[in-house]
Amino acid sequence: MKFEKNILCIGAGYVGGPTMAMIACKCPQYKITVVDIDKERIAQWNSDDLPIYEPGLDEIVKATRGRNLFFSTEIEKGIKESELIFVSVNTPTKMFGAGSGMAADLQYWEKTARQIRKFANSHKIIVEKSTLPVKTALAMERILALSENYINFDVLSNPEFLAEGTAIKDMEDPDRVLIGSRETENGIRARDKLVEIYANWVPRDRIITSNIWSSELSKLVANAFLAQRVSSINSITALCEKSGADVTEVAQAVGMDSRIGNNFLNTSVGFGGSCFKKDILNLVYLCRNYGLAEVANYWEGVVKINDYQKERFVLNMLGTMFNTLADKRICLFGFAFKANTGDTRESPAIFIAKRLVEEKAELVVSDPKALRNAKIDLKGIDRDVSYIENPYEAAAECHAIAVVTEWDLYRNLDFERIYSSMIKPAFIFDGRNILDHKGLFEIGFNVFPIGKPALTHF
Ligand SMILES: NC(=O)c1ccc[n+]([C@@H]2O[C@H](COP(=O)([O-])OP(=O)(O)OC[C@H]3O[C@@H](n4cnc5c(N)ncnc54)[C@H](O)[C@@H]3O)[C@@H](O)[C@H]2O)c1
Repeated sequence: MKFEKNILCIGAGYVGGPTMAMIACKCPQYKITVVDIDKERIAQWNSDDLPIYEPGLDEIVKATRGRNLFFSTEIEKGIKESELIFVSVNTPTKMFGAGSGMAADLQYWEKTARQIRKFANSHKIIVEKSTLPVKTALAMERILALSENYINFDVLSNPEFLAEGTAIKDMEDPDRVLIGSRETENGIRARDKLVEIYANWVPRDRIITSNIWSSELSKLVANAFLAQRVSSINSITALCEKSGADVTEVAQAVGMDSRIGNNFLNTSVGFGGSCFKKDILNLVYLCRNYGLAEVANYWEGVVKINDYQKERFVLNMLGTMFNTLADKRICLFGFAFKANTGDTRESPAIFIAKRLVEEKAELVVSDPKALRNAKIDLKGIDRDVSYIENPYEAAAECHAIAVVTEWDLYRNLDFERIYSSMIKPAFIFDGRNILDHKGLFEIGFNVFPIGKPALTHF
């Protein structure tokens, strides 16, 4: 079959795989190839057991794979045959040298730029899909400009705003698609080509364009604002617990103000995921680099509150359970950083699990989708950890349950049955406030929600 366009995506991860599957699904006239240096990951994308769990993803991959969606390790071929190249490689926090623990590690990004320069044999539009520090496009342009084949490149910024767990819905019906370009004739021509692709299914008024630096910065700022909201409400939970206020009631009263709105006001043990912390630290590092200490300190506070919230949760468990967790069996309900994903990157569960093991507790980790990743995350301390998917079996003979991920399945369990299988007094620490606290208390549990009065039998 002859395709209208060949599109390549470098990086077959949580972003590259689903975004390209969506484009392939909505645009059968384009051939989409996703390449990666990780052979195993590509093999998984070509199998029935995809490397990531995302509701609805299996269906669209099955419908498009082999038709106009292809997963491959042939990077050189992909670059040569495509006119538009999305780059969706990982940009984790740098853990060495200057900026260690803060700056973005751009090594994968830069290697990709060099690969594109080496193999390109005709004009290419390069699309930044990875989240990057503002001005990265300039570095990309400079590397590409040294092409020995005198090839021209246009670099665009098209940050991805999908949220894991709802990625398919987010991409199918996005709040907005943002495309940043140089404001030159070539830049605008390249931008229009990308607009044309999204316009196959996204209404035009939701495709917004901007200058390239605004686009790069908008992604960092969007994540910083979202994380800030989580830290804002979480900081109030500590005050609620001291004062007798109930954070759910406070959040409702605050959120009904239309200027504030009620989204993203759920309390938790803290935010996780591969992006929030990394992107805020990246923003903080950028501000410090530009000499903006006050701005940097302001945003750094969001990460500090998040760390505080995770530690507070563990100290609350310790204090409540008579100041010793040694040899106590504690069951974690959930390990993924949020519901409906198997992703555990930066999950608060990792911190909590490590701290509980430090206190010499015995851990049982339960999760419907994340146990494969949990085992990798806890490698080295797993002498004291068992992994049991079935929540009833996981909680049996435990002293306490801690809800760490807001999976729906935990809302609907038979807690009478769970209570009868646990060691008494039985404790529940609801790190997501998703359970029926009064009902649990009546069964006999000692219940510790976040940001509201505890319900205890002593
Ligand atoms: N995960 C999210 O929810 C999300 C949302 C929006 C934006 N982002 C951003 O998107 C980018 C990718 O995130 P992700 O979660 O998909 O990461 P990921 O780690 O799941 O995937 C990145 C992939 O890139 C591959 N890769 C690295 N260097 C390569 C190279 N030179 N050639 C070919 N492949 C290479 C890796 O092997 C890996 O499979 C990051 O910048 C992230 O900040 C992520």
